Amino acid sequence: MKVLVTGGSGFIGSNVARLLKEEGIDVVILDDFSHADFRNILDLDCEVICADILDENLDKKIPKIDAVIHQAALTDTTLKDDRKMVAVNFVGFKNILDFCIKRRIKLIYASSAGVYGKGPTPMKETQPPSPLNSYSYSKYLCDREVVKFFKKSPIPIAGLRYFNVYGPGESHKGKSSSMVFQLYLQMKEDKPPRVFKYGEQRRDFVYVKDVAYATFLALNLSHTVIVNVGRGEARSFNEVISVINKVLNKNLQPEYFDNPYQEVYQEFTQADLSLLKKLLKFTPRYSLEKGVEDYIKNYLTKTA
Ligand SMILES: NC(=O)c1ccc[n+]([C@@H]2O[C@H](COP(=O)([O-])OP(=O)(O)OC[C@H]3O[C@@H](n4cnc5c(N)ncnc54)[C@H](O)[C@@H]3O)[C@@H](O)[C@H]2O)c1
Repeated sequence: MKVLVTGGSGFIGSNVARLLKEEGIDVVILDDFSHADFRNILDLDCEVICADILDENLDKKIPKIDAVIHQAALTDTTLKDDRKMVAVNFVGFKNILDFCIKRRIKLIYASSAGVYGKGPTPMKETQPPSPLNSYSYSKYLCDREVVKFFKKSPIPIAGLRYFNVYGPGESHKGKSSSMVFQLYLQMKEDKPPRVFKYGEQRRDFVYVKDVAYATFLALNLSHTVIVNVGRGEARSFNEVISVINKVLNKNLQPEYFDNPYQEVYQEFTQADLSLLKKLLKFTPRYSLEKGVEDYIKNYLTKTA
């Protein structure tokens, strides 16, 4: 089996590509390297195509493959440029979708918990979306396109609504990297971890190894679906700080400051995992404690 991973040199894409290789699957990475880190894929022996997902001639550039895992996107949730966001994330997605339909191959793509906005929790795939920013809106447009195929679909399409992913390979993301990574960077320098007042925002933090595994399992799906991929637990920023303190053997106290994004900020995210468990027979294996410990001990303190 041969699988194309778009955005394969980015954070989640590179973790997915590595897992696929470990599972004996041939991988082709497509990335325009605009927001990637080549070091994420240095250890991977696979074909690399440098191309834009908006390229109208993708068909000529991509070899014979059996499925596409589409991760490429602009991922800065604070970017306010609707035109750019929709062009890359939605029009680019449609280009990939058309490509898959033309080739009659399966498509798995990264959606986001952002589509739920400030909706009720735990968040269910069936609840009405309410995106709060350009990024979430662009992901909502992709999902809306896919809903059209629920009854009759020329190919199986799986939209994975990732929640708050953290783990190795995200350092190039800067201010868009996970809270776990940003807090770690401050705390390893013995600086007080800075969080929005009063650190009680709750997020469904999910380790990238679980996300990669769920994405791999989605290759088995034979119908069109949109499904949550999270840990299923909402943990506060204060809790993240205490977990990092424990792993680093420190006792740093948070410094709170006003949230400039209050109106468009998701204060509470938590995935309902019923559909994930039913369809993929998968329960995430990493608690926040276990994921943060693996991340810091096996990756961050080895490279920093
Ligand atoms: N990280 C998270 O917490 C999270 C949560 C929900 C959804 N997602 C989604 O998961 C996917 C992967 O996100 P990530 O966190 O790995 O981000 P990332 O920014 O590390 O990866 C995105 C990759 O896409 C590439 N890319 C961007 N524009 C491109 C284009 N026009 N053509 C080709 N390649 C292009 C970038 O160079 C980068 O390698 C994205 O679709 C993102 O929206 C991520």
